[in-house]
Amino acid sequence: MIKKGVKIAPAKGKLGVLIPGLGAVATTFIAGVEAVRKGLARPIGSLTQMGTIRLGKRTENRVPAIREFVPLADLNDLVFGGWDIFPDDGYQIACKAGVLERDLLDSVRDELEQLRPMKAVFSRKYVKKLDGPNVKRGRNKWELAQQLKEDIRRFQKETGVDRTVMVWCGSTEVFLKPSDVHSSLAKFERGLKANDPKIPSSMVYAYAALSLGIPFANGAPNLTIDIEAMRQLARKNNVPVCGKDFKTGQTLMKTILAPGFKARMLGLDGWFSTNILGNRDGEVLDDPESFKTKEESKLGVLEHILQPEVYPELYGKIHHKVRINYYPPRGDNKEGWDNIDIFGWLGYPMQIKVDFLCRDSILAAPIVLDLVLFLDLARRAGMRGIQEWLSFYFKSPMCAPQLYPEHDLFIQLMKLKNTLRYMRGEEMITHLGLEYYD
Ligand SMILES: NC(=O)c1ccc[n+]([C@@H]2O[C@H](COP(=O)([O-])OP(=O)(O)OC[C@H]3O[C@@H](n4cnc5c(N)ncnc54)[C@H](O)[C@@H]3O)[C@@H](O)[C@H]2O)c1
Repeated sequence: MIKKGVKIAPAKGKLGVLIPGLGAVATTFIAGVEAVRKGLARPIGSLTQMGTIRLGKRTENRVPAIREFVPLADLNDLVFGGWDIFPDDGYQIACKAGVLERDLLDSVRDELEQLRPMKAVFSRKYVKKLDGPNVKRGRNKWELAQQLKEDIRRFQKETGVDRTVMVWCGSTEVFLKPSDVHSSLAKFERGLKANDPKIPSSMVYAYAALSLGIPFANGAPNLTIDIEAMRQLARKNNVPVCGKDFKTGQTLMKTILAPGFKARMLGLDGWFSTNILGNRDGEVLDDPESFKTKEESKLGVLEHILQPEVYPELYGKIHHKVRINYYPPRGDNKEGWDNIDIFGWLGYPMQIKVDFLCRDSILAAPIVLDLVLFLDLARRAGMRGIQEWLSFYFKSPMCAPQLYPEHDLFIQLMKLKNTLRYMRGEEMITHLGLEYYD
């Protein structure tokens, strides 16, 4: 039966995109959108810009572009702003990041130069390898949150945007576990006023955004919005949220390959992953405490896909190691090696080697774009709290506390597309297809 779908407010007016952390990913995203707007390049890797969605039966031949099927904001309506601990403008940041070629950056130079980072909420306690001068001062974290809210309101007023979303593209913070101060909104707000050390800078941004009804996506593996206090705030203010940690290079490969092994009931003895990268992200991750946050995010993937408790013979004893090595000569052009020890029929061992010469920010930028557009859509569709259908984009997808996360890229994609079908009152696609043979 076809349902009526969800009421979605139109995407009228401008959409503000606020980014804490104007580094390599953020500027590659913004420069890319500007270049696409000018017709200089194509938005490759973006599902919202390039993807289609099949509707109804295979015989119906209805395959619209996703951006025509659901009312997404137009790229021309995006307006950018953000915060960083360094005062460089967007053009200087992008030049230093060294991801995009100078020719391309020069063609969008005016737009990038207008991007001037607001003063950040930052403490070295949470990112040990960094320090910068463009930082707010305040008596406590509550006061800093109020300053962020003022920044946001000023940005909204000056740019005249109708709606706003926030995407954390800041550095990876040290590893934190959920604790008492995170367990309710009331405790969290008391913690802000008492300068609780368990509240890192990223949570102050998230709190400011959600308090103002602004959807928030977390591109790093930090805890940030994955705590009960933020879930309560998101519900209270009807705000959609999603995270954590953009799924880009090596983990993307893992969530493509592992479901394939499981589908064919091939066993796995071990998976050794190592990387070299030389950008600032690599430098931050050279600190063991920030690396621990990343490591947790990267390690969870295999266990959830392979389900060792269901298949102890195949996946009961996996040696899974992840290494990240800071190696400056490579800059943003990371190289990730995987050695995968699998076994097949009668237990015979085999090996697979993957050498992925990727470009970190080139893989991350279209994810930022899709999250901006889909979160804005979710907000207009009245969806609030964790948006599990956006798991597709994350290494460590957030989900309801009683659930385990879904990591399989193909299930994630099906979930995403079925959510879009649901929004528009189209039938879910189950792939049963018996009717074609009646
Ligand atoms: N590029 C990828 O493929 C990828 C994939 C997954 C996750 N990530 C995560 O995305 C984030 C950004 O990556 P990147 O390569 O752009 O790193 P980057 O170092 O180039 O940029 C991060 C920026 O955040 C700023 N920053 C740090 N703390 C801040 C704070 N409290 N407030 C405001 N600004 C702050 C830094 O000064 C820096 O400019 C990192 O956490 C990274 O782990 C990246």
